[in-house]
Amino acid sequence: MFKARLSEVQTAVQTALDEAVARQPEGPLRAPMHYALQGGKRLRAFLVLESAALFDLPQSQAMPAAAAVEALHAFSLVHDDMPCMDDDDLRRGQPTVHVKWDDATAVLAGDALQTLAFELCCDPVLGAPDRRIALVEALAKSSGAAGMCHGQALDIAAETAKTPLTLDQIISLQAGKTGALISFSVRAGAILAGADQTALRIYSDAVGLAFQIADDILDVTGDEAATGKRVGKDAGAGKATFVSLLGLQGAQTRAAELIETASDALSDYGDRAENLRDAARFVISRKT
Ligand code: IPE
Ligand code: IPE
Ligand code: MG
Ligand code: MG
Ligand code: MG
Repeated sequence: MFKARLSEVQTAVQTALDEAVARQPEGPLRAPMHYALQGGKRLRAFLVLESAALFDLPQSQAMPAAAAVEALHAFSLVHDDMPCMDDDDLRRGQPTVHVKWDDATAVLAGDALQTLAFELCCDPVLGAPDRRIALVEALAKSSGAAGMCHGQALDIAAETAKTPLTLDQIISLQAGKTGALISFSVRAGAILAGADQTALRIYSDAVGLAFQIADDILDVTGDEAATGKRVGKDAGAGKATFVSLLGLQGAQTRAAELIETASDALSDYGDRAENLRDAARFVISRKT
């Protein structure tokens, strides 16, 4: 059921993203943008659409927001893989953008994916102008110096720090690096509906943290064929991760507890939130 719904979302969001790139002028960035937008689990898009569904917003109305967060996420991955950051040559089972093209193309295609995300948030189909402005503001805050970029900067700084990060420091790093965009995704429906975000914040904080714990676990236990990216990179880079701090078993236990917290937070939504509860469970059971 969840898998079928996720697969439906993957197809629909891919179409929306391909159409958005096709609307860009011909030029050197169109091909690398299109390339960077292929594949992926589309979990963030799924969260946007399910969040919208909680407030009776149809998929067709919320789709530009789902495409936007995937474009923003793709930008973060293109830059994350570059030699000056994680220096990875494999992403979603394919050579990374800077390997297939070059560093300058990866920087610029990433930049253009980021601005495409904000363009998508302005799509009139999303609703009244004040709701779209709120969406743009939330995406900006989740992505920039208070969100993803902040977390990424702390992550890179930690590689060369003299003392390893503490658990509290790594939790706060994660809240930016991975948590902020997941939080945006989960809250997007409430933002578009002008609804209260309290319960969704509790859910997304827990799911975001569990998501990064699972990412760190997969770096140790996963395989390249399934994840589509190199594994064993974190220990190699001397990164402090949830696995290095809690151990494999401890990280798994912590992630499972977080999923309970996330599911419980949605009790007021009853059965309507079942797809979001399934998504939370998927976050820690996934192999990719
Ligand atoms: C990977 O994100 C990078 C992190 C934020 C940990 P995903 O695991 O969601 O990557 P895709 O989109 O499915 O490729
Ligand atoms: C990347 O975290 C997070 C962002 C791109 C914002 P990681 O560096 O752990 O992600 P992977 O493991 O390369 O996908
Ligand atoms: Mg990284
Ligand atoms: Mg990386
Ligand atoms: Mg990782």
